[in-house]
Amino acid sequence: MPGQHLPPLRKKNEQKEGWIMKVLLLNGSPRKEGCTFTALGEVARTLNEAGIETEIFQAGNPDKENVKAAVQKMKVADALVVGSPVYWASPSGQIIEFMDQFVSMAGNDLLYKPAAAVASARRAGTTATLEVLTKYFSFYQMPIVSSNYWNMVHGNTPDEVQQDEEGMQIMRILGRNMAWLLKCIEAGRKNGVDMPETEEKIKTNFIR
Ligand SMILES: Cc1cc2nc3c(=O)[nH]c(=O)nc-3n(C[C@H](O)[C@H](O)[C@H](O)COP(=O)(O)O)c2cc1C
Repeated sequence: MPGQHLPPLRKKNEQKEGWIMKVLLLNGSPRKEGCTFTALGEVARTLNEAGIETEIFQAGNPDKENVKAAVQKMKVADALVVGSPVYWASPSGQIIEFMDQFVSMAGNDLLYKPAAAVASARRAGTTATLEVLTKYFSFYQMPIVSSNYWNMVHGNTPDEVQQDEEGMQIMRILGRNMAWLLKCIEAGRKNGVDMPETEEKIKTNFIR
């Protein structure tokens, strides 16, 4: 609804006992509480409703120390959501610089953890943005979580994003789908379904 704001995210000391899973959400906009944050907030709220802990991390600053702080958080996170505004029909330069460092530093802490990308735009460039962000996940064998449309919201302000009813629904369904997958993985683990065996990486350069 116009002008309606999201309920505040749960603070750490208010978290329910028994929350065993955690999702790290990276906000790749230099605007801390803008449109991308609004979209991620809806995903986080839905995850919280499913009993899963969340943290939205400000990743719009790609300084090495900030990236390192996110890498530490990824060690204990069970899943990852990366959000970005669309800049020139692509992810923000800030999130690309952030992710290039983040994935190579986080490495094995990403393996097999569910992941999703979210794009926020005034109008165009969303699917190209999602495609770029999703490539980080597929390199690290992360199951990619989807919704009932591609994960995008439209707006130039948080209020406009909240008026994008379809976009907000996409975020809620994405959160529920991620919660479901996390619980399935946990149930599988408890019943002896372990992560797959991996192999030493083979790297070729198209030349023998
Ligand atoms: C430098 C810059 C470039 C942008 N390029 C696009 C674009 O190519 N397509 C588009 O639809 N919106 C574009 N926008 C608008 C933003 O994507 C949009 O306002 C977004 O929701 C902002 O998210 P934020 O509040 O999280 O930063 C651009 C904004 C900026 C500042």
